[in-house]
Amino acid sequence: MPYSNLLPNADMQAIQALLQEKARWLAQGKKGVERFRQPYESVRHIRAEQCDFSGDVVKIGSPDELSGQDQEKVYKAMRDFMPWRKGPFEVFGVGIDAEWRSERKWKRVLPELPDLQGKIVADIGCNNGYYMFRMAHHEPKLVIGFEPYLQHYFTFKALNGFAGCENLCCELFGVEHIGLFKKSFDVIFLMGILYHRSSPVEVLREIRTAMKPGGVLMVESQGIPGKEPWAFFPEQRYAKVPGTYFVPTAACLANWLSRAGFAEVEIFFSHPMSSQEQRRTEWMVFESYEDFIDTADPSLTVEGYPAPVRIFARAGNPL
Ligand SMILES: C[S@@+](CC[C@H](N)C(=O)[O-])C[C@H]1O[C@@H](n2cnc3c(N)ncnc32)[C@H](O)[C@@H]1O
Repeated sequence: MPYSNLLPNADMQAIQALLQEKARWLAQGKKGVERFRQPYESVRHIRAEQCDFSGDVVKIGSPDELSGQDQEKVYKAMRDFMPWRKGPFEVFGVGIDAEWRSERKWKRVLPELPDLQGKIVADIGCNNGYYMFRMAHHEPKLVIGFEPYLQHYFTFKALNGFAGCENLCCELFGVEHIGLFKKSFDVIFLMGILYHRSSPVEVLREIRTAMKPGGVLMVESQGIPGKEPWAFFPEQRYAKVPGTYFVPTAACLANWLSRAGFAEVEIFFSHPMSSQEQRRTEWMVFESYEDFIDTADPSLTVEGYPAPVRIFARAGNPL
């Protein structure tokens, strides 16, 4: 494991056992695994000479670096990784306009971004690594992405196979494994995760155990509008999304963080969701935000619930 010496307090034995279990599962070659491993394997010989993670579009390689045959392989592999949820990327000149305009979220995070230089960072629910590449621009020592879904895991592996960032890695872990990383991280990003957990305060408490004293947690969550410290709990789906539990107001999210033991809790941004930010594209051809919202009254979801806002918070683990 390339990072074991950087995490002296982590339970490396348990992490190693988990990695072996995942490796055995991947090696079984099941259809679901092969669907995404195959495009990864088809391009894993390719390396990019130039990358640029400083702008809105994560740029990996340029078209003149590849033979015609490899250009075709890259394009096909990128199409095989569809649907692309997070982006935008430009991969050897192939523009990938993902469902989410993730650069907008990153722009909102930037003014409150802690110094990442030389830091050990976790990105929980990292998806294809869009934000990890944006973090790489700030020169962290290590970013571990937690991502249990094979599609996103192999997409990241293909992208970083091209980019070759040795300080970025993604594991098939979930937030439920964060407790194995005792006092390990200077900064943790928890974006788009909390409302998918049935016990959000327990998750925050466990995350705090994985942070070094003085560490910083950056949270972004779906929420509902309102000033009171309330959380909405849908009967089944919320904006058509299954697996949604507590959807907090900003005040409620701040209370969760304080009750989980965080200090200096600050809600620093909140905005209504929109179909400008999450929409169907050539790289994500299924339903998107406009299909989740009541066409007659955009302040409601299709279920008649309050339409979502997004909330940004920063919190510190006390020294
Ligand atoms: C709503 S997306 C958020 C992605 C990204 N963090 C962002 O803010 O744009 C949730 C991500 O968490 C991943 N995920 C699903 N179950 C998870 C779990 N148990 N632990 C961590 N991440 C999980 C999903 O595959 C997906 O990539």
